[in-house]
Amino acid sequence: MAGKREEARDNGRGVVISDDWPGYHLDLFTYPQHYCGDLNRVLIPHGVIVDRTEKLAKDIMNDIGFCDIVVLCVLKGSYKFCADLVENLKNISRNSDTFVSMKVDFIRLKSYQNDQSMGDMQISGGDDLSKLSGKNVLIVEDIVATGRTMKSLLGKIEKYKPNMIKVVSLLVKRTPRSDGFRPDYTGFEIPDLFVVGYALDYNEYFRDLNHICVISEQGKGKYRV
Ligand code: IMP
Ligand code: MG
Repeated sequence: MAGKREEARDNGRGVVISDDWPGYHLDLFTYPQHYCGDLNRVLIPHGVIVDRTEKLAKDIMNDIGFCDIVVLCVLKGSYKFCADLVENLKNISRNSDTFVSMKVDFIRLKSYQNDQSMGDMQISGGDDLSKLSGKNVLIVEDIVATGRTMKSLLGKIEKYKPNMIKVVSLLVKRTPRSDGFRPDYTGFEIPDLFVVGYALDYNEYFRDLNHICVISEQGKGKYRV
């Protein structure tokens, strides 16, 4: 009994979605009709993302809420998650006695084409990374798959000697291609599937979908480049 309970608690992996989790039929929720046939199922409904984000914000504030933070939003995929997370961080900070100053910065990374990692990561946009020197940085990412993107970004930021770096990722993919990188905070651990929605894209499509869904073969074919 005790063992089972322990399993269900947060062990750093977040909400674990198992490989045999069937998800929800698309008809049970609303979604943009231009994606009809392009999705297999809803993996994480939007409301569940909202609830989990609230708890992640609480965990983060408990750990690092006593110092000034620079939130680094990794565009484009994490813009929704980052905006919602920052809103929650602001709410907690507003309602507590300790004052936390929070700055938000953006960096744009791109490493995927179709559903494949291209290996080399392109950085563009955002402030000069040297501004992170001596700061407490919270990197906000949408999904960690192989871990290459995060490791490469961390390497680049560490050169400027920030005081602290923490990584929060909404999703972590269970994949044999993982290099073992684990964020400090994880929303959900998901099966090795290509997911879209809540700002996660497939060649720039599906950012306008609220739920996190599994793309269908038809969807992959239709928007392939
Ligand atoms: P990694 O370098 O393999 O860890 O991939 C991380 C980046 O690839 C993420 O920031 C996403 O932009 C993208 N990515 C990886 N898997 C998915 C997915 O299933 N859906 C959408 N984007 C993904
Ligand atoms: Mg990303």
